[in-house]
Amino acid sequence: MKKSQKLYEGKAKILYKTDDPDKFIAYFKDSATAFDAIKKATIKGKGALNNTLSSIIFQLLNQNKIPTHFIKKLSDREMLVHKVEIIPVEVVVRNIAAGSIVKRLGIPEKIPFKPPLVEFYLKNDQLHDPIICKEHILAMKLAKEDEIEKMKHLALEVNNILSKFFKDHGILLVDFKLEFGKRPDGSIVVADEISPDTCRLWDIKTGEKLDKDRFRFDLGDLLEGYKKVLEKITD
Ligand code: TMP
Ligand code: ASP
Repeated sequence: MKKSQKLYEGKAKILYKTDDPDKFIAYFKDSATAFDAIKKATIKGKGALNNTLSSIIFQLLNQNKIPTHFIKKLSDREMLVHKVEIIPVEVVVRNIAAGSIVKRLGIPEKIPFKPPLVEFYLKNDQLHDPIICKEHILAMKLAKEDEIEKMKHLALEVNNILSKFFKDHGILLVDFKLEFGKRPDGSIVVADEISPDTCRLWDIKTGEKLDKDRFRFDLGDLLEGYKKVLEKITD
């Protein structure tokens, strides 16, 4: 597979075209950002770790018949993915209260959500990814009603699969963010990445936070947390 023109550069990844018009290469950078990139750092080795972790998780989802953009891990920092048009809506699933919902609604941290909560955010850094509802998505024509239902349904299925997977490896899946893409045939698939950058992962035994909150709130070495996740899920 030959990498060609750079299509898009985001905060954590670069997307390249390939010699196959239906396939893109996602390249994981060594950068970490938080709070709409107000806080930034280069963390050597982060790109390779997130590529490895994301590839393992996407493979698991593919095996469980969840439609995703993932085809295969190509190299240390690269994954081969199907071409999709990203729907500019971030879908967050919460099993336990943490992060922005604690601040926004005053819900005490660690309160469980049963059933899990599904939220939508507008993917727009300038507007600081504001929370939106289904009606906003429809009014802004970001997705159709059936597509919104599909995203919600898939997000909850992903939650079931990943919650069990992480639990089996001693990790609590507190919450996570998904992005969805539209394939040329109109079908909706899970896209972007799924990694400790986009999930809150707590060690079940010790309660240690193993995800990007380490970087956001200076809780400890980021790579050390991500490596612990990799060790646990590949034990
Ligand atoms: P939040 O509590 O800050 O809203 O985050 C919810 C989940 O979404 C958490 O697992 C981290 C993830 N997330 C992203 O992947 N990208 C983002 O830009 C933000 C704000 C959160
Ligand atoms: N990914 C977002 C940023 O880079 C925010 C976050 O993950 O906290 O700014």
